[in-house]
Amino acid sequence: MAYYVTSIFAAIVTFFLPLASALGSTSYNGLAKTPQMGWDNWNAYGCEIDAATLLETAQKMVDFGLRDLGYNYVILDDCWSNMQRSDDGSLVANATKFPDGIKAVADEIHSMGLLFGMYSSAGMYTCAQYLGSLGHEEQDAQTFADWGVDYLKYDNCYNQGQEGNSLITFDRYNTMSKALNKTGRPIFYSMCNWGRDYPWNWAQTMANSWRISGDVYDSFDRPDDRCPCTTYDCPLPGFHCSIMNIIGKVAPIVDKGQPGGWNDLDALEVGNGGMSDDEYKAHFSMWAMVKSPLIMGTNIPKMTASTYSILANPAVIAISQDSAGTPAYRVWKRAAEVDEYDQGEQSLWVMSLSGGDYAMAMLNAGNASMEMKATLEDIFIDKATTGGGATRGPLPSSSGWDIHDLWANRMDDVTANAILQGNATVNGTIMETSNSMMVYNATEMAYSDGIGMSHPALLGVKISSVQPMGTISATVPRHGIAMYRLRKQEGVSMKKRDEL
Ligand code: GAL
Repeated sequence: MAYYVTSIFAAIVTFFLPLASALGSTSYNGLAKTPQMGWDNWNAYGCEIDAATLLETAQKMVDFGLRDLGYNYVILDDCWSNMQRSDDGSLVANATKFPDGIKAVADEIHSMGLLFGMYSSAGMYTCAQYLGSLGHEEQDAQTFADWGVDYLKYDNCYNQGQEGNSLITFDRYNTMSKALNKTGRPIFYSMCNWGRDYPWNWAQTMANSWRISGDVYDSFDRPDDRCPCTTYDCPLPGFHCSIMNIIGKVAPIVDKGQPGGWNDLDALEVGNGGMSDDEYKAHFSMWAMVKSPLIMGTNIPKMTASTYSILANPAVIAISQDSAGTPAYRVWKRAAEVDEYDQGEQSLWVMSLSGGDYAMAMLNAGNASMEMKATLEDIFIDKATTGGGATRGPLPSSSGWDIHDLWANRMDDVTANAILQGNATVNGTIMETSNSMMVYNATEMAYSDGIGMSHPALLGVKISSVQPMGTISATVPRHGIAMYRLRKQEGVSMKKRDEL
């Protein structure tokens, strides 16, 4: 009898254990616990890409400390292959662009402590009309694994009409997901079907990120008919989508991003010359707030000091990489003074962070500098209205909060130029990261540990505090942002009624 009880128990445990661990895990393949970071050549180079450019970029990512900030994927986009497969049906790299083949590039990138990404399409051809992987998924996944690829960006052109409802698209992308898993190599899977068939509703179980829009372009808010939609529900995603266009598309679906699978707002345009410094700060901040991947898209070796000091702001990156993995949401949007493109709006974005902090951003897409205000009731609206009701403890709005400005420690140009020119040890201090206010090394200390010990480079500058039930205000420049980390003040809370 005892034997039967034991074996029935064992059978039950064996049956439910895999299920339990699957339910408890946050990522279908163990990757993307936080949004991926890295560099992709498309925004800066388009098809003009080769091994030398990739390797020079990778080396500069190391030299400039970008790898150690977390930018660890070097991603080769479209246009890398021959127009024909080999006799055994494999994809072949273009020998002029990659004289030593792809594996040699991957090996060298790995030797720099970086990871290597590639690109294909879930169609007959890629978008630039090179060969795609539709119908060749297992063979191509194995080729990528054999080359040492760590990341696949998988596009949607020439898909033979296999879209139009979620299940058809799911199946087409899942075929590659399974093929990648079958190789046994951990390969980050970045879906690029521009939001067609609502991947945020179904991709979490088989991809690590999914694009939500047509291609970004280097403009803050200029409309373009080639990016015709302004909502997520978009039959023609197109390209030339502005920063504000894409922010508008993610707003209703932010909560679909989660550890293991993220909404991808497309690679960054920071540094490409089409926007003002304030616009690039707003762009970078918002990508961090909503937990888009942070994939740099500029010419790294030639980047300027101001580009560097945006992309290398550790206090903002710490928001993106926060271990809680909770994207910011838009609390409100209000009309602002319109600009030449009639896109004026102001908005408040809030997210909760690990350890009890919050991040907030006031985004001014209006045409003039503006004093913006957010009450603590606005900021903590979810705490007051979501679940818990009668058993809920004191609301966060009834505490006092310290306000840390996440851009106030932005690196000065002298320091940034010193790093870019290879003098990273100017005065012997710049790259001394243990107590720097501007430089951080996440290879040495993970962001979660840095936050845990209140590393000064991650906290920004404490500029003021707000009283219980108070209001936070800031003068936010035209097309700019104010981005803060809020930290609860100990012992500052509203008095209870009987103490008044
Ligand atoms: C687009 C994709 C871009 C880039 C391009 C290459 O479809 O959205 O990010 O990869 O193809 O041809």
